[in-house]
Amino acid sequence: MKILVTGGAGFIGSNFILYWLKNHPQDLVINLDKLTYAGNLENLKDIKDNKNYSFMHGDICDREIVDKAMEGVGLVVHFAAESHVDRSIMNPSEFVKTNVLGTQVLLDSALKNKIKRFHHISTDEVFGSLKLNDLSIFNERTNYNPRSPYAASKAGSDHLVKAYHVTYGLPVTISNCSNNFGPYQFPEKFIPLAITNLLEGKKVPVYGDGLYVRDWLYVEDHCRAIDLILEKGTVGETYCIGGLTQDINNLEVVKKILKILGEGEEKIEYVKDRPGHDRRYALDWSKIKDELGWEPLYGFDEWLKKTVEWYKKNRQWWTNVKNGEYKTYYKKLYGRP
Ligand code: NAD
Ligand code: TYD
Repeated sequence: MKILVTGGAGFIGSNFILYWLKNHPQDLVINLDKLTYAGNLENLKDIKDNKNYSFMHGDICDREIVDKAMEGVGLVVHFAAESHVDRSIMNPSEFVKTNVLGTQVLLDSALKNKIKRFHHISTDEVFGSLKLNDLSIFNERTNYNPRSPYAASKAGSDHLVKAYHVTYGLPVTISNCSNNFGPYQFPEKFIPLAITNLLEGKKVPVYGDGLYVRDWLYVEDHCRAIDLILEKGTVGETYCIGGLTQDINNLEVVKKILKILGEGEEKIEYVKDRPGHDRRYALDWSKIKDELGWEPLYGFDEWLKKTVEWYKKNRQWWTNVKNGEYKTYYKKLYGRP
């Protein structure tokens, strides 16, 4: 089978390609990626000479390139997106372009090329924000209520994917997952930012009161879930994918990282809150557990330790990343280097 992965040079996409070639060594994987600031071919250096892997440099908004990438493909796994909420607040138009228009270009091409399955990667952020200490929790039937430009653009893409299934019969599946963490995550996101700042001797910026709750999913557990959806999932269906955290707030996450690294709480720095900051996400993933038999391999603490170890061992990887465009971005957002 020939698989087209979009955004395969990013965090989750590159973990997925490494996972896929390990577990499905007979398949051919094409990675279509624009290599934005978030795309990094270093993530894939171990497989760059694998004859079953090829890289195509291009934009998912470019119909010609997308049609070329789609030739002879059976399966599309669509990760490519602008993915960071803070950047969406600074520059929403890139998010609409890639996440909405780019997805629509891919859907058109998938129809034209009679793709057997189009799997769309989405987020729990499309469901909006829950209250603290509330019992409610998102599931596949929750109404959409996106609140950031990022979430709104992902919601738009989800609606288009569903519409192409209903209107044109495109065989699609969608997954809405919680916050991922693990190797090769760009250090603009909270967990790698906290770990790498501490490894550099810097403080961890915590937005507002720090009592914001996220559900945390280890990236390899996510890849296993996508694999199961592709193998056994029902066409037209959505699956929520979450981790084993239960209402853990950002301060608690930082304290766990501080403990692993043997650092004290003086390394926490409260900074200005994000505008429109969603208070709480929580995700019910019983559908994928009951129907497909998926669950995370380990709990949050185990995966967090493994993640910290990875960043300790791969200093060169994140130092290179932090030395690029990241410097300008960090200064603009946090007001200092
Ligand atoms: P990322 O920002 O690390 O990587 C995105 C990749 O897409 C990069 O390689 C980038 O170069 C590429 N890309 C961006 N615009 C492109 C374009 N126009 N054409 C082609 N390639 C383009 O993102 P990630 O964290 O790996 O997220 C992957 C997907 O998972 C996204 O769709 C995101 O919305 C979703 N998601 C992520 C998380 C998370 O916690 N990281 C959680 C839920 C859902
Ligand atoms: P983030 O990794 O940006 O993911 P998302 O906003 O998509 O959930 O942020 C996770 C949480 O951490 C979120 O509540 C915002 C918070 N946060 C901080 O407190 N400080 C930071 O420097 C960053 C980047 C995030």
